[in-house]
Amino acid sequence: MQAAAGNPEETYNYRVVRQFAIMTVVWGVVGMLVGVIIAAQLAWPELLPSVPWLSYGRLRPLHTNAVIFAFGGCALFATSYYIVQRTCHARLISDRLAGFTFWGWQAVIVLAAVTLPLGMTQGKEYAELEWPIDLLIAVVWVSYAIVFFGTIMKRRIPHIYVANWFFGAFILTVAILHIVNSAASPASLTKSYSAYAGVQDAMIQWWYGHNAVGFFLTAGFLGMMYYFIPKQAERPVYSYRLSVVHFWALIFTYMWAGPHHLHYTALPDWAQSLGMVFSLILLAPSWGGMINGIMTLSGAWHKLRTDPILKFLVTSLSFYGMSTFEGPMMSIKTVNALSHYTDWTIGHVHSGALGWVGMITIGSMYYLIPRLFGRTEMYSVRAITLHFWVATIGIVLYITAMWIAGVMQGLMWRAVNADGTLTYTFVESVKASWPYYVVRLVGGVLYLGGMLIMCWNVWKTVVGSRPVDAPIPAPAMAHA
Ligand code: HEM
Ligand code: HEM
Repeated sequence: MQAAAGNPEETYNYRVVRQFAIMTVVWGVVGMLVGVIIAAQLAWPELLPSVPWLSYGRLRPLHTNAVIFAFGGCALFATSYYIVQRTCHARLISDRLAGFTFWGWQAVIVLAAVTLPLGMTQGKEYAELEWPIDLLIAVVWVSYAIVFFGTIMKRRIPHIYVANWFFGAFILTVAILHIVNSAASPASLTKSYSAYAGVQDAMIQWWYGHNAVGFFLTAGFLGMMYYFIPKQAERPVYSYRLSVVHFWALIFTYMWAGPHHLHYTALPDWAQSLGMVFSLILLAPSWGGMINGIMTLSGAWHKLRTDPILKFLVTSLSFYGMSTFEGPMMSIKTVNALSHYTDWTIGHVHSGALGWVGMITIGSMYYLIPRLFGRTEMYSVRAITLHFWVATIGIVLYITAMWIAGVMQGLMWRAVNADGTLTYTFVESVKASWPYYVVRLVGGVLYLGGMLIMCWNVWKTVVGSRPVDAPIPAPAMAHA
């Protein structure tokens, strides 16, 4: 598994990147399989045997934790470790600490997979895990920060490439969010109570929740975008100056937008309006970044016809643009009055999750995996094209079904008769949603099918390969 060169300091540490890249694909399949199961449960509630650990309420957080922190998290570790080394011309500062972050993160995932179905939860969305696991996350995350920033400090390239700024902000912010939001007093090993109460608890939770979207599901993936799109298109970033403005504007604005999750609640009205205004402002940096990524293809548009990896990377940006237009619209209080609690939110989430996060990750893994395993390209390029189309059709089915169902639910719930009584009972809106739940399930099965094609392709690429750790260029050589 080690490099041909004798001195490890002369090569990059690809071992940990390989480990995280493979687990990205594995956890992607697991997390999305659970997504498909809960989508089927919503269409047929009696589908699974009536045991508590197979109930919808326990499997749903298993899905969200698996796709966000296992699939997304492993992708972020893999790409940040790869990019920081390649753009700094330096090996990771510590192989042992990097190895610890891999095994520590896998331990967190396995503990989540055991405790969530058992019903152990803090009841905070995306921060469900109980306090002993939270402590482990904090230790792994601080180690990650040491490896990442330590490598930046020993860099041989004076400039810090913009992708590293995005990864750095993601690592620092997630540390702060996790530590503040998870503060709790333990009652036993498996039960704790939040350190905050009432509306403060809600506000801290959604300050965390929204910045988990902004930094976990966005900033780190923008780091991937700024490295892999120029690489795959073989063009420089369209405007490097815009990328720097994009960075500062995005991280400043995201911090204030959390209250849009708490419209029409006990949160003071001014705080809700502040969240709405910052969400509207957020459209500008988001679209600035999207345009910068798409315009990087200037002069290389023809490659989109033949290169399925570029198709994944660029389509992900289109979904990023779509969900970051939709988000600000949904944050307007009068629009939120219609969309909140409906499947419109679920459609929005998955246009970001399947379209943006999923596709940029898949494209990046197709770029990385052959390089990490000493191959020139993936075993089957045609299978990548097939994956692309299956996944795209899956997303379109998923999100259009949820949009139609969501707007329909919102309109049915607010419809009133001339005498002021409700036109529809709640259960009528559930019944009307059924066909859309089936279409969503079909979309999910297609997206999962694409991941299975990827698994086969990765397997064929990796088996029998001779993994190599690329040499670090001599100081005088050009950029990686
Ligand atoms: C095969 C693919 C997938 C399927 C079939 C699927 C299905 C589902 C279903 C049925 C729900 C529950 C919806 C509800 O409660 O009404 C859900 C929630 C969620 N999923 Fe997925 N999902 C998939 C992939 C993903 C991916 C890749 C991500 C993230 C990267 C993701 C993130 C989420 C999040 C954050 C929620 C919670 C949304 C909320 O509370 O508003 N999903 N998913
Ligand atoms: C400019 C950017 C964005 C803004 C202003 C925004 C705004 C919003 C709003 C207003 C909601 C509905 C809150 C509610 O009614 O409960 C929401 C929900 C959500 N958004 Fe976005 N969004 C943006 C981008 C994204 C992206 C790119 C993703 C995914 C990668 C994403 C993931 C989510 C998730 C997971 C939820 C559901 C949270 C929950 O209730 O569990 N958002 N967003």
